[in-house]
Amino acid sequence: MEVNSYKDDLTATVQELSHAYEELSLLYRVSGMFASLSIDDICSRMLNEAIDSLGVRTAAVLFLDEKENVLHTKISRGTWDDRRVFTSDTKVLWRSIETRRPSAFCRIAETKYRNDIAGVRSLMVCPIQGKAKTIGAIVVADKEGDQEFFSHDTKLLMAISSQAGLSVENALLYNELEGLLVGAIKSLVKALEATSYWTAGHTERVTEYSLAIGQYLDLTGDILEKLKICSLLHDIGKIATPKEILNKDQCLTEEEWIEIRKHPGIGAEILGEMQQFNEVILGIKYHHEHWDGRKSIFGLKREEIPLLARILSVADTFDALTSDRPYRTKRRREDAIEEIRRCSGTQFDPAVVEAFLKWTDGATLQHQAP
Ligand SMILES: [Fe+2]
Repeated sequence: MEVNSYKDDLTATVQELSHAYEELSLLYRVSGMFASLSIDDICSRMLNEAIDSLGVRTAAVLFLDEKENVLHTKISRGTWDDRRVFTSDTKVLWRSIETRRPSAFCRIAETKYRNDIAGVRSLMVCPIQGKAKTIGAIVVADKEGDQEFFSHDTKLLMAISSQAGLSVENALLYNELEGLLVGAIKSLVKALEATSYWTAGHTERVTEYSLAIGQYLDLTGDILEKLKICSLLHDIGKIATPKEILNKDQCLTEEEWIEIRKHPGIGAEILGEMQQFNEVILGIKYHHEHWDGRKSIFGLKREEIPLLARILSVADTFDALTSDRPYRTKRRREDAIEEIRRCSGTQFDPAVVEAFLKWTDGATLQHQAP
């Protein structure tokens, strides 16, 4: 009798330990997994983890819209309808938001919430909390084999949602900051375009050309985004170039060229404080370097020149050739393309020129950028 009770205790302890281990290892996985992901990615991984760890057939992440006072479905799996929006009448969900506590129902049809969510038998809801506010809730429903939800299931779901909550909050803050940054970048570009009439439109076109070349080089995601910011800001250093030089309608003197050639370095200095933009800054700093190094401002050559700068160099020159300048008229598009081709291997990286030529030829892209 005593032995049996000892065995039961041991079994219970082992079970508890194994649950604790499961929870810890999940926490470890989840915390590393969510770092530096987009909101959609975090939500998707949160759902996959919940489905795998809890063995449920249906799961959804709901985001709280404080203005409208509704919960809307951000992402779902199983029988959940992606368009579902829940007002505060859906008490089974809202009580978790209001109390900031999880709740579980094994047979929801036998509770007063039976009409709240159609098509599920059992349900567990856990709020997703950030540091500052409630972000929404994660819902799981219908365990495989029609099993009940146990307290360790609740613990697992809470572990997933608390890690994801902080990451989602960070990602939301990051998006907000990025929006502010893009606003600041646009203001800088406008300030630059106000200094010389011919630069108006140049930035936009160079950005378009750079991104096209980037896509033909199979660049995607983050690096393409950096190329965009780099292109938008590439001539920002010209803010410090005297207006008379920028708008001069005759050929520039040697001294004036020296002045103009300072703009990549000045641009890098202006943006120097933005540590997270290091690649962008280097792209700007070296966008007038030459592939063979013979006329490089900073003496770089070949792969020493960052890829963003090598792309920018081709895009910038192509726009310069096909636009009127105060001291000369523009060239025909075909002549400009020919000039870029001629300078492949001397001024420009041959691989970038090849991508440029594919784009101007209208070749089909291998991978469409998102
Ligand atoms: Fe430039």
